[in-house]
Amino acid sequence: MTEVDIRLAGVADLPAILAIESVCFDEDQQWSKSSWRYDIGDDSTNVLVAVMDGAVVAASSVHLAGLTADLHTIETLPQWRGIGLATLLIARGMAWAQERGATEMLLEVRVGNPAQALYADLGFTPLYERTNYYGPGLNAVVMRRSLNTAYRDEAPSGAERGVGLAGTAGHPDHASEVTSGSLAPLEPHLRVK
Ligand SMILES: CC(C)(COP(=O)(O)OP(=O)(O)OC[C@H]1O[C@@H](n2cnc3c(N)ncnc32)[C@H](O)[C@@H]1OP(=O)(O)O)[C@@H](O)C(=O)NCCC(=O)NCCS
Repeated sequence: MTEVDIRLAGVADLPAILAIESVCFDEDQQWSKSSWRYDIGDDSTNVLVAVMDGAVVAASSVHLAGLTADLHTIETLPQWRGIGLATLLIARGMAWAQERGATEMLLEVRVGNPAQALYADLGFTPLYERTNYYGPGLNAVVMRRSLNTAYRDEAPSGAERGVGLAGTAGHPDHASEVTSGSLAPLEPHLRVK
């Protein structure tokens, strides 16, 4: 089983994060080094990285303002996609925001981006479209998810994959994760350190 370490990003992770950014997004959609640096140093923002075999392979950023958390970005290197890393990072970001009193999480996603399926699996529902949000003719869908209910209660298909916020389901090997009340493990692909 592949082992993943999810941890807070530090300034030392910037080169790896920017490398992920450069393969995940077109140049005009990429965040700058200074934007990432700002988020990493900001107490209201939770920047996480997923580390596999000692390398940073995915990153996320969640910003909290009042009762609303915003998923700023989520990105996984192509060769590490489809094993649940983004799901795990977002779930951790939701737990971080919940612990700080957030009641909802919002995100914007480009119309047609397959990531919309991932967000739907995580319990996000579309609210409305923002015209030309990413540039002329490039609309965004704003999606929302309540943080008042556990993920597994809302999204049975995702729960079957073993990902959750409330954390009673999951593999017995991961009892410490489950009893911590944060996340059930990603199974069968990932073992969470
Ligand atoms: C979106 C992204 C972060 C998903 O990362 P990931 O680690 O592979 O995500 P997970 O393994 O947790 O979940 C995969 C799910 O995402 C969805 N998905 C995301 N991208 C997809 C794609 N290109 N094709 C098909 N499904 C995709 C599917 O629903 C998939 O579920 P499945 O594995 O059950 O089929 C990754 O594809 C990426 O970095 N894309 C480029 C950057 C981007 O668009 N970020 C989102 C901006 S709003």
